[in-house]
Amino acid sequence: MKKIKVLRGKDRYDIYIEAGSFDLLNDLIDKKELNTNILFVVDENVMKSHFEKIKSVAAKCKKKYNLYVMPSGESNKSTEKYYSILSFLAENNYGRDSLIAAIGGGVTGDIAGFAASTYMRGIQLVQIPTTLLASVDSSIGGKTGINFLNRKNIIGTFYQPDFVLSDSTFLSTLPADEFISGTGEIIKYAFLSDRAFYNKVIGSYDSIISLDNKELDKIITVCVKIKAEVVTEDEREAGIRKILNLGHTFAHAYESYFNFGIKHGTAVAAGIISSLFLSYRKGIINQTSLDYFLKLPSRIEYPLPDKPDMDKIINMMLSDKKNKEGGIRFVLIKDIGEILIDVEARKEEIIYAIQNTFKLR
Ligand SMILES: NC(=O)c1ccc[n+]([C@@H]2O[C@H](COP(=O)([O-])OP(=O)(O)OC[C@H]3O[C@@H](n4cnc5c(N)ncnc54)[C@H](O)[C@@H]3O)[C@@H](O)[C@H]2O)c1
Repeated sequence: MKKIKVLRGKDRYDIYIEAGSFDLLNDLIDKKELNTNILFVVDENVMKSHFEKIKSVAAKCKKKYNLYVMPSGESNKSTEKYYSILSFLAENNYGRDSLIAAIGGGVTGDIAGFAASTYMRGIQLVQIPTTLLASVDSSIGGKTGINFLNRKNIIGTFYQPDFVLSDSTFLSTLPADEFISGTGEIIKYAFLSDRAFYNKVIGSYDSIISLDNKELDKIITVCVKIKAEVVTEDEREAGIRKILNLGHTFAHAYESYFNFGIKHGTAVAAGIISSLFLSYRKGIINQTSLDYFLKLPSRIEYPLPDKPDMDKIINMMLSDKKNKEGGIRFVLIKDIGEILIDVEARKEEIIYAIQNTFKLR
């Protein structure tokens, strides 16, 4: 089984990656001497598709366990559901010596992580990602959160899990559009890494989307290594961690523009395309590089607005919590593995990037 470590101060936690590894959950909890009063917070679709597997692993838990079903969908990353998880913990007498095992995608991981970080000033947490996006991205790095007053992730904490267990066999039941969305984040890591991995992702893109577990585990491992290195260096996004936001300034605006009718990873792929056009417009890359770099993100289909309302999209970027003092800052690509952060752009340059993104389709 692949093991990748993430350092947090003097401490560390491990990320385990292997198809079928969920069966080892209790062994790992024992080996690490973690608490065995466990609340399993499980995404409802994962529960439906993998009930027998989850039930049989949970039943082997040493002390007590309960299964809490987390309703699916971004709208449930809410104060109400957060309150409901805390109520469940309190009503079932979970104390400080408890552990939450979050089994699901980013929605379940984010809200269960937030509950773990705040209940009794913090209880133990294990992340078990079941979407491709969560496997390569959201389960690592310790960002937890919920949405508030229609704004995404506006309440949250930095709270690292005790370990992450990534079992790609869960992905077999993931709907195709969710799977494709996850590849958007893989494409991001391809740009953050080096030419060897970039070309590997181009070469194995078809195996990835046809769910070849062996190939998937290899790709997930490289992405996780990159994220682990970055978050080890900069836990709270003061500097280098910003490279993980490649494509995201555009992506968040596209998600809002389409009223969340576009999946996050799909919006990230479109956002990377916009970042490439912006890099080109600012003279950071030339036409040859632009053509070469567009090959990978343009494998993903994204929606095409009839007539994009530029002011609306730009206003959405201005309200992004990552922007400061009214200016919009971008993460741009100079080369594979050569990423520029905090780049400001003029309105006409941003419009050029957005228009070309939608013209490309
Ligand atoms: N914490 C972070 O660092 C971080 C990073 C990126 C994204 N996020 C957050 O992650 C969320 C998106 O995560 P996501 O894309 O994983 O979406 P998600 O958690 O909403 O899951 C997508 C859909 O897939 C279903 N599903 C999950 N696993 C399944 C499986 N194995 N089989 C069948 N169905 C399954 C879910 O029920 C849901 O309908 C957003 O809320 C975003 O803000 C967090």
